[in-house]
Amino acid sequence: MSELGNSRVITSNQEGVHKDLEQVVLKHLKHAFRKPYQAHTLAAFKECEKWVEQQGKPIILDSCCGVGESTYHLAKKHPEAIILGLDKSADRLAKHPQSIADNYRLLQVNLNDFWRLAVDANWHLSHHYLLYPNPWPKANHLQRRWHGSAVFPAILALGGELELRSNWFTYIHEFARALELAKQSCHVETFVSETSITPFERKYWASGQKSLRLTATLK
Ligand SMILES: C[S@@+](CC[C@H](N)C(=O)[O-])C[C@H]1O[C@@H](n2cnc3c(N)ncnc32)[C@H](O)[C@@H]1O
Repeated sequence: MSELGNSRVITSNQEGVHKDLEQVVLKHLKHAFRKPYQAHTLAAFKECEKWVEQQGKPIILDSCCGVGESTYHLAKKHPEAIILGLDKSADRLAKHPQSIADNYRLLQVNLNDFWRLAVDANWHLSHHYLLYPNPWPKANHLQRRWHGSAVFPAILALGGELELRSNWFTYIHEFARALELAKQSCHVETFVSETSITPFERKYWASGQKSLRLTATLK
């Protein structure tokens, strides 16, 4: 398997939207996620919080940014904002060239903690990009998908214009249903573009796979 993983069409032992999705999402919407924060993400948050406050600009998150290629493109697209590219993989982040624009930073963090810390700090995002998160296609991995995880309410609380892209259409359909359960509306469409902005996107398209995009204005 290459660094980017296997680009074959995702196979799953799950047919359509997971049968337990509704029950799992409603449980997480009702109960606060109280798992203690890991020290390294807490320290990274505290450090970047200072920079964010100093800038005083709209905040954009590029969550699961991998090597940060999309973070760079988003920084160019949104010169009025600051962009935080977030990923837990030090190896992937290390592949990013030296910072090329001054309105973005890459941080090695666990999003299960970082998103909750940002909510606690009362951050309100202008945009939130989630491009090709790990699909976790096995049926018994539902709670590893972001919409099935206990941290899902924090994604909602951060607000902003959310954009999620995936080549596993079930992921998008489940996320849309989870938003509906949280009384949020969204739009789902096939996503095509002349240029890919992430390595995974490029690889999927090169192998003939399509992307689905979900957008939502989070209330
Ligand atoms: C399939 S890759 C996509 C990377 C990039 N968005 C792209 O399209 O090239 C998913 C990324 O999510 C990151 N990730 C998964 N779980 C995470 C977590 N709990 N916190 C932070 N990053 C996470 C992985 O390290 C990986 O880089």
